[in-house]
Amino acid sequence: MRHQIAAANWKMNLTYKQGKILLDEIMNKQIALEPHKKAIFAVPFPYLRMAKKKIKDRENYSIAAQNCHHLKSGAYTGEVSAEMIKSVGVGFVIIGHSERRQYFNETDALLSEKVNIAIDHHLTPIFCCGESLPIRESGKENEFVAGQLKNSLFHLPAEQIQKIVVAYEPIWAIGTGKTASSQQAQDMHAWLRSVIAKQYGQPVADTISILYGGSVKGSNAVEIFSQPDVDGGLVGGASLNGEEFAAIIRALK
Ligand code: PGA
Repeated sequence: MRHQIAAANWKMNLTYKQGKILLDEIMNKQIALEPHKKAIFAVPFPYLRMAKKKIKDRENYSIAAQNCHHLKSGAYTGEVSAEMIKSVGVGFVIIGHSERRQYFNETDALLSEKVNIAIDHHLTPIFCCGESLPIRESGKENEFVAGQLKNSLFHLPAEQIQKIVVAYEPIWAIGTGKTASSQQAQDMHAWLRSVIAKQYGQPVADTISILYGGSVKGSNAVEIFSQPDVDGGLVGGASLNGEEFAAIIRALK
């Protein structure tokens, strides 16, 4: 079975102390995860080490960074490299979140470089894609999101693309309280899997976890995750609340 993943994306929220308290609260719930399930916490850079310590060596709990620079190292004041993230024992990195595409002008071409540098440093990219409301309203969402995958991922050989986690996050559903219906999520996930299958073959497409993101919460996670091509979620707002995120982890199938 594909990995089923509940990924928390804290974004630019919580102080160090608040982050510690939240991780303690969730880890104290002792939610056991079977081998095909994973809980991942994407925390701000200064908290990576602390978060890594909090999850200790609990099976199937991991930490992610929220971004990395596309180059190996150098005179880029304020930036954080994939190598640095790996060197503090972190295994995942979110790449191409819509907020980074929108506010930091990250393009498909730049994101393909970020994907490469992450893979070079043995970090698993959680690659985000998703359309805006005008694109959905014009009926071009399938084409648009497939284009994001093609432009940033399809240069990879099959054995590398299998290591990627994809997160489909329609921009109109992020932080708006408006989720895609579980059917809309399923339709897009099935479409993306078919696009991957066309390029790499069905067996490769069948191994790739595709997470849904956009206003996932404790009360809607079971229904969304029950869809056959939805392999968990990337969660913003609701991941800042221990009870909510615990319910989302428990909703994994
Ligand atoms: P949200 O954010 O759960 O607050 O909608 C999801 C995301 O941006 O990853």
